[in-house]
This record gives sequence, structure tokens and C-alpha cells, in this order.
Amino acid sequence: LKPKIFVTRKIPHQALSYLEKYAEVAMWEEEDIPVPREVLEKEIETVDGLYCLLTDKVDEPLIKRAKQLKVISNMAVGYNNIDIRSAANHGIIVTNTPDVLTETTADLTFALLMATARRLVESQHFLHQGKWQSWSPMLLTGQDIFGATIGIIGLGRIGEAVARRAKGFDMNVLYYNRRRKPELEARLNVQYEPLNDLLAAADFICILTPYTDETRDLISDEQFKLMKASAIVINTSRGGIVNENALYRALVNKEIWAAGLDVFEEEPVPLDHPLLTLPNVVALPHIGSASIQTRVNMAVMAAKNLIGVLQGNPEDASIHKVNRN
Ligand code: GLV
Ligand code: GLV
Repeated sequence: LKPKIFVTRKIPHQALSYLEKYAEVAMWEEEDIPVPREVLEKEIETVDGLYCLLTDKVDEPLIKRAKQLKVISNMAVGYNNIDIRSAANHGIIVTNTPDVLTETTADLTFALLMATARRLVESQHFLHQGKWQSWSPMLLTGQDIFGATIGIIGLGRIGEAVARRAKGFDMNVLYYNRRRKPELEARLNVQYEPLNDLLAAADFICILTPYTDETRDLISDEQFKLMKASAIVINTSRGGIVNENALYRALVNKEIWAAGLDVFEEEPVPLDHPLLTLPNVVALPHIGSASIQTRVNMAVMAAKNLIGVLQGNPEDASIHKVNRN
């Protein structure tokens, strides 16, 4: 008898056909609409594996309904949508998709940094609105990227990949991380700073730490006050790490210069959100890992993680289990 799996969204066919080789698969077929909670509550009762996305809240009440669930496979590297403690207490293994999206997400982080520093989106609107009357000395002038100081908060895989890109732009690279990384400091020529010192010194502050109880509101009023008036904040991790009300205040009061955001506390971000009214905010719809190849790779990795656990060898090193810390 094949194990049963529920997939919470339409996924790339390469991943679906892999799952179907080993399991009986039911899937929420919509492309753009998350599975309704009621559907998920019902499906989870009878399946052995759940294949889900970061848009699915897999909390204790949901996990409690499961009768034979062995694995929750998230098609994302971040897994703050899942109550991993509850899963562990129920003997359920949680997996994610690290590594395959590292370079793609670092590319997007750098693209957002450059778009924000050089006012690309604002400049395109300016042109399309017919406001371009003449080349002019100080028209749409932004901040230099080469030679500037970047402060990376969270020197994990993606943070490291951003640091390598920054080095290519002759940037001075500072980082803050819970654990110091002397080997990386030597190899990449990056410098550790306590968080407050990094915030005061950096021209660009990139948030690349995971979202946990510890990092919620890591950047709020007090932290913005330490930053340079020319500082640019880039967040491609999770919305709740930067407090949005504090960010809005910092931008309006000109405590910082601009922000580039790929993630929000509430997603999709409401269109009447105050941050979206500011010309110096570049906002994207959570597309950090969104290259065609990387999304297919993530989908297939999530499928392999799930089947790997169901085939009974969760200690297999090719299964990407999340840390339980
Ligand atoms: C995307 O945000 C991910 O966590 O993979
Ligand atoms: C996520 O993959 C990270 O370690 O940055």
C-alpha cells in the first residue's frame, strides 16, 4: 500500500511526478490561492506526508488532528510557518530546502539593494509619467554602492553569498551573527561587529537572519536611531524581523534614506500599507528565490525530502531536516 500525501498547492510537474511514483497524492489544484484551512484540517487527518508552502500555517491545532503524519516537507528554506516544537513532540519530522536557493536569493538581495540605492523603480515611473524634461545635474541621484560599507545581519548561506557579491563591488563587509565565523572572516575578508556597531557603521543593512522568537522586531525604533541618515535597509528574509511601524517612522523622519523589501509582516502586503506610499521604498512580492530553475529545484528537493522520510530512513544525510533549536 502506497503512503498518502497531501500537497497544498499546484507544484511543478517534475516534483509531482516524483511524488506520484511513491505515493498516493492529493493536491490543492489552485495556482494562486492557498489551500483553505478547512480543507487542510480535513486532509491532514489521514495522510502520512504533508507537502506545504510558506503560506500554510502548520500550527499545533492542525498538527494535533493528524493521525498518521510522519513528515512535513516545506518547499522553502524558511520554516517559521511551522510549529517545529509541536511537530517534534508528535514525532513528526520537518524538512526544508536549503542550499538550492542560496545564490538565487543572494542575486535578488543584491538586485534590490542596487534598485533601492540607485532609485530604479522611481526613475522608471518618472520616465513613464512623462516627467523627463532634460538631463539635469542632480536629477534622481542616489547612493554609491562601490566602496560603501554593507552590514550583513545573519551570515548563513545566503549572507555569505551576498558577502561574496559585495566583495565584487569593492564594498567593505561587516557582519553580525549569533555565532562568530572566524573561518569565513579569514576566507572572505569580512569583519564581525556587535549589532549596534554594525548598525551605526553600515551604509547598507541587509537582513538575512531566520525569523524566530529571538529575531522578531530585531530592527525597531531604537535600532533605526543608531543608523546613518544615508542608510539603506534591505530585507529579503521575513517581514517580522524589521518592525514595519518603526521603519515607516524612520523613513518619514529621515532617520534613514530608503528601504528595499521583498517580505512583509502580512503577505500579500495590503495595498493601503503606509510603507507603499513612500517613493524611497522598493517593494517586491516575496520573489527572493523566484528563478525558474531554482523554484523547480526547490520543489523537487521538497519531494525527495518527503519521500526519503516516508521510506523509513530519516537519518539519510540527503534529507534536509530542520534544526530544532
Ligand atoms: C522563501 O522565503 C524561503 O524561505 O524559501
Ligand atoms: C539560509 O539558507 C541561510 O542560511 O542563509
